[in-house]
Amino acid sequence: MTEPVAIAAHVNGRDRTFAVQPHDTLLDALRDDLGLTGTKECCLVGECGACTVIVDGRSLDSCLMLAVEADGASIQTVEGLAEEAGRSLSVLQQAFLDTGAAQCGFCIPGQLMSAHALLELTPHPTRAEIEEGLAGNLCRCAGYEQIIEAVQRAAEQRADRVAEPMSRREPSVDVASLPDARVAPQ
Ligand code: FES
Ligand code: FES
Repeated sequence: MTEPVAIAAHVNGRDRTFAVQPHDTLLDALRDDLGLTGTKECCLVGECGACTVIVDGRSLDSCLMLAVEADGASIQTVEGLAEEAGRSLSVLQQAFLDTGAAQCGFCIPGQLMSAHALLELTPHPTRAEIEEGLAGNLCRCAGYEQIIEAVQRAAEQRADRVAEPMSRREPSVDVASLPDARVAPQ
């Protein structure tokens, strides 16, 4: 039995410390040590994108990264998308709801994180850029059209919010009133 390794990271806006085994993946640490089960476990070989999170501004498959490599990193998971907008859904999450992009929901946390990373880097993506940005995220329900539409809608609404005075913004959905704050199954 190897000795656990102490990790300190900034996770969803909070400083967190946790102990991992040297062979643990970041996915293991997020789900098992930090209880962030919004990040999904599926293929474990970097093919499905269900485990996508953002580390130091880059989206990546957390099943392919060792947890020890995340020491000192800034990590964002799907739970952090809602927190980013206070206690409300982000524009992107709301767009996924409004377009019916979430069917069984299993791929949605990964799709959201890839889309969020894309919109942070490319606020006005073309359809081809959206398809490329989400190419690593598979959806078994084949809801690709609705997912692309959601990202397009979010891009438009984010642009509108930049242009719109704070006082004219619609109140957003209270996450606590929704059946599942992660907009995806555990
Ligand atoms: S679980 Fe990581 S890419 Fe599929
Ligand atoms: S919504 Fe079911 S796998 Fe994508």
